[in-house]
Amino acid sequence: MNEAPLLSVEGLCVRTSARPDAKILVDDLSFELGTERLGLVGESGSGKSLTARALMGLLRAPLVMQASRMEFAGRDLRELTPRQWRPLRGTGMAMVLQDPRHALNPVLSVGAQIDESLRLHQKLGSAERRDRVLDIMEAVGLPEPHRLRHAYPRHLSGGMGQRVMLATMLVNGPRLLIADEPTSALDAVLRDQVLDLITNLVETRRMGLLLISHDLQQVARYCDRALVMFQGRIVDARKASELDRASHPYTRTLWACRPSAATYGTMLPVLDRSRPMEASSQ
Ligand SMILES: Nc1ncnc2c1ncn2[C@@H]1O[C@H](COP(=O)(O)OP(=O)(O)OP(=O)(O)O)[C@@H](O)[C@H]1O
Ligand SMILES: [Mg+2]
Repeated sequence: MNEAPLLSVEGLCVRTSARPDAKILVDDLSFELGTERLGLVGESGSGKSLTARALMGLLRAPLVMQASRMEFAGRDLRELTPRQWRPLRGTGMAMVLQDPRHALNPVLSVGAQIDESLRLHQKLGSAERRDRVLDIMEAVGLPEPHRLRHAYPRHLSGGMGQRVMLATMLVNGPRLLIADEPTSALDAVLRDQVLDLITNLVETRRMGLLLISHDLQQVARYCDRALVMFQGRIVDARKASELDRASHPYTRTLWACRPSAATYGTMLPVLDRSRPMEASSQ
């Protein structure tokens, strides 16, 4: 990173409530994110989605968060009111989720869906809005935008649905995209296509990306750096290109536990959960 970070987080904690006996779900997270692709990886329940929701101001009571610093493009996110959050979500930061079928509105056509997102944030005439909708549909690789904008979510395949989601999220030109397991509802071929698309868009639009995944090899392929989370904490942080040589035992287990043609018929490794924080001697 050779410019001021987009996002600076220090000491982020999320707890089940404000009570003293509350469980700590995200524990003292600190990281910076610039115009780069950062992976947040860890097994189910490690606190990845809660971290994303905290960053987007979407945690709901009784959950509480605190942080000694949480800044986006120089703005302190900790004290924002819901009214101040609204314009920031969309134009500043945007989030795509796992399954577009739950995120898209079934009674709005594709074009109306993207247009709604645009209208929420910009005062533009209808002709200009239509052009923007068609442009972003083209940018996310939706075929025949003129025709497809009249289609409804039920007409879309999973991969197309995820492209529509991306279009609604990117149409206002946010600087940071948080993608929480954006491809886990898709098959392997579509998964690669959508991740290629996301990483290309992020690069050409000079955005930052926080890619949340439980798949370390996916993060190694599509990100510049990775943070590895275990039970609410960051236990390892390194360049994506060095993940295959990570010495941390938890990172090594995550790396090795993805089934592939090479591991077919063999036992996948299991983490010794009593000692995940210790550095490996191997
Ligand atoms: N509202 C809540 N109240 C209490 N506990 C919660 C709440 N939301 C999440 N948790 C717990 O916090 C932990 C972290 O949840 P989170 O959804 O962030 O995990 P994750 O890393 O995104 O997992 P996955 O890969 O399955 O999506 C989990 O143990 C979960 O059960
Ligand atoms: Mg999650």
